[in-house]
Amino acid sequence: HPCNISGWLLMLPHRLSSMSISVSWWSEVQMGPPDPILGVSEAYKRDTNPKKINLGVGAYRDDQGKPYVLSCVRKAEAQIAAKKLDKEYLAIGGLGDFTKACAKLALGDDNEVIKSGRNITVQTISGTGSLRIGANFLSRFHTEARDVYLPKPSWGNHTPIFRDAGMQLKAYTYYDPKTCGFDFQGALNDISKIPEKSVIMLHACAHNPTGVDPRPEQWKEIADLVKKRNLLVFFDMAYQGFASGDIDRDAWAVRYFIEQGHNIVLSQSFAKNMGLYGERVGGFTVVCKDAEEAKRVESQLKILIRPIYSNPPMNGARIAATILNTPDLYKEWLGEVHGMANRIITMRELLVANLKKEGSTRNWKHVIDQIGMFCFTGLKPEQVERLTKEFSIYMTKDGRISMAGVTSGNVGYLAQGIHAVTK
Ligand SMILES: Cc1ncc(COP(=O)(O)O)c(C=O)c1O
Ligand SMILES: *[C@@H]1O[C@H](CO)[C@@H](O)[C@H](O)[C@H]1NC(C)=O
Repeated sequence: HPCNISGWLLMLPHRLSSMSISVSWWSEVQMGPPDPILGVSEAYKRDTNPKKINLGVGAYRDDQGKPYVLSCVRKAEAQIAAKKLDKEYLAIGGLGDFTKACAKLALGDDNEVIKSGRNITVQTISGTGSLRIGANFLSRFHTEARDVYLPKPSWGNHTPIFRDAGMQLKAYTYYDPKTCGFDFQGALNDISKIPEKSVIMLHACAHNPTGVDPRPEQWKEIADLVKKRNLLVFFDMAYQGFASGDIDRDAWAVRYFIEQGHNIVLSQSFAKNMGLYGERVGGFTVVCKDAEEAKRVESQLKILIRPIYSNPPMNGARIAATILNTPDLYKEWLGEVHGMANRIITMRELLVANLKKEGSTRNWKHVIDQIGMFCFTGLKPEQVERLTKEFSIYMTKDGRISMAGVTSGNVGYLAQGIHAVTK
């Protein structure tokens, strides 16, 4: 019977029916390049050298090289589990106990902005999600200027985040390869030419990938110039507490800009400073002109978020909120952030001491001067390649190493390798 389609199909020769299955919608899709950082990890996994070191990924490791779950996080998890909370959806903007504490952590408890209620914070899917919600918000509402100026270089994901949101990417001078430090004059020159109302991206502290931050006097000049140019400031704060070990000191630039009248937008991540990487906890904050403007912005952020993921996940936000809102856990957290930052600072010093011991006569001062998780070593791509081939030491081609992957057990071998390829 001609209407009995399945019977008719069964009668077709096998080849014909499989051809009809193999019709492709995606024949025009080109193979994309692998992620540069995750590619390093894969090569590392394949290496059988017992001395191998992975300095590619930006995740904290303890001095045994193991992933580290903070003790305050374990305690918060236990407290939350004991409460047997339900799993109803969060609000579109996330968990209120979390977003309030998140804003306070960044701005400081007694910030005038909070007192006058001209802030709005939504919970986001860690720092990346925060940047993307921010980028989408700018794309929809900051219609007078489409250009976002990133420091040269910036975190690799900044470019696609803003580009995919429909913004245009530009750059300003930041890193000086000659000094492995901040090119302050170059930055000022470039910023002074940025067209009015453009967006400028600033890393609040522990600049990724360079580990180079402006000093407070330099931040002050930047804040002045940015005001003169009438630029919209987007702060990315993915490492609060991780740079100096002190959450207030690391938020200094953000708070200074606000004090100077900049109505900034701010992205926060709790991946590094609470070790909540895979829990995806973050916040996006807009500092507005007044409370009325904040209300309007809040309504539009919700409208923006709703069709993307409806509402954010709750588990990580509960953990962070419990820590931030429970005095003894908060105190313990401050100690643990300090401990992580200190271990990294100690490894910087140990690496330089070991390089000297190996007989290196190069100036490695920048290794100590740089701040946060990463160190821009100044190693050339050929030297990085030799380190990987001859020593099984893995890092990104730009010579960036994650100091969090250095331990008292491997620092000697690392120094030996770096000296061998740079002497
Ligand atoms: C500068 C910067 N911004 C944002 C992030 C966001 O990370 P996550 O999405 O894991 O919070 C990172 C993480 O490496 C970063 O280095
Ligand atoms: C501003 O921040 C404070 C403190 O975090 C919070 O209580 C308040 O709800 C925030 N305002 C808005 C509109 O989100």
